[in-house]
Amino acid sequence: MNKIRIKFASKLGLVAAAAGSAVGLGNIWRFPSQAADGGGALFIFLYIACILFFGIPLMMGEFIVGRSGRANASGSFQKLAPGTQWKWVGRLGIITAFLILGFYMVVCGWTMEYIMQSVSGQLMATDSFSEAFGNLLQNPTRQVVWMLLFTILTAFFILAGVKKGIEQSAKILMPVLFLILLVLGIRSITLPGSVEGLAFLFKPNIESVKSTIFLDAIGQAFFSLSIGMGCMTTYGSYFRDDSNLRKTAVQVSLLDTLVAVLAGIVIFPAAFALTQTPDTIVSSLVAGGPGLLFITIPELFHHMPFSSLWSALFFVLLGIAALTSTISLMEVVTTFLHEEFDMLRRNAVTLVAMGVAVLGVVSSMSPQFFNMLDYTTAKILLPLSGLFISLFIGWYLDKKITFAQLSNEGTLSVSVRFIKLYIFILRYVAPVAIVGIFIYGIFF
Ligand code: TRP
Repeated sequence: MNKIRIKFASKLGLVAAAAGSAVGLGNIWRFPSQAADGGGALFIFLYIACILFFGIPLMMGEFIVGRSGRANASGSFQKLAPGTQWKWVGRLGIITAFLILGFYMVVCGWTMEYIMQSVSGQLMATDSFSEAFGNLLQNPTRQVVWMLLFTILTAFFILAGVKKGIEQSAKILMPVLFLILLVLGIRSITLPGSVEGLAFLFKPNIESVKSTIFLDAIGQAFFSLSIGMGCMTTYGSYFRDDSNLRKTAVQVSLLDTLVAVLAGIVIFPAAFALTQTPDTIVSSLVAGGPGLLFITIPELFHHMPFSSLWSALFFVLLGIAALTSTISLMEVVTTFLHEEFDMLRRNAVTLVAMGVAVLGVVSSMSPQFFNMLDYTTAKILLPLSGLFISLFIGWYLDKKITFAQLSNEGTLSVSVRFIKLYIFILRYVAPVAIVGIFIYGIFF
């Protein structure tokens, strides 16, 4: 099997593609609801700690595995550890990707619905945004139609090819989304009564801490950075030999975190300012977790001139951010089937899309199933595979490979201290912490 693997053309292209995968509904939809559920400031603090201590090292780790293996998530492990069972780490990731798509696509469908409603002006004509969102949730047909459309759209982009499809779209549109969030953030914190929302975000409230907060934070960190399921391994396999893995991992992670925190700054001050009683808002935030974005953001637009225009622009860009993430998720499963089972890419994509559609239909109809997929992937499968990846690099992989990858065969200067610290984190710190978090989160 000597297929020529495509590589990302430009340096900006690879950062943009990886950032496109990372920045998605995870940042703007999932992060605020997890932060609300976790009680705000302390969750955010733990989340950032998880990004720094586990997220960035593991993203580098996935890049190392992908670029030295130069194959899909399972094939890369097989090449680096032939004859061992390590390939199951990659395969676990591929299953995880598939399951994530099964609920993620539903939220992409909601985004589509909101694009249409913004364009038609219907959204801004509603009196109660929470009621409007509730109505959508009660309407499986509409959810299913949009979800299917989004799945087909993703499949289409995958067939258009790695370079053209992913690189081009991500490069131009992500900065625009960022700018809109910035404008929204300013609008949100200048609303009268927004202070309480900012306090909720940045002032720790010890009473509201739950024992699952560590698991929630690490799960969200992995989900948001797209690590722990071979996504970054697959993208790493497309990187050029002179791409700087350390720099890319740091840049992508910082950007991703910035977008998430910015989304928090948009949503919480607005949520507090636009509802009269802070107590009820906190409880409704928690109960309405998944809907936070779809209720608070339109409400915020409602308080701006040209509300429908803003809202259409915002949801279109959110849809594109989501699309670059679904592309990355579907790409992982597709490349695996294509390379390991010698399937045509076209057939592989069709098969994956059909499977995703089935899961998507069930999650549109059953919130329990939706939540189960979300919970199992983010809080169990991603941390578990993060654990295995850190063990793989920390204990199994020859340090020479790690060094060669991080220094691009010695052409970049990397200090021995850095490599030692890096291995130490993946060898001891990350595994011990992840196991600890599991035990604490599940049994206490
Ligand atoms: N990170 C994306 C988001 O924040 C979702 C995503 C894409 C993902 N690829 C992934 C999550 C791989 C976990 C693993 O929306």
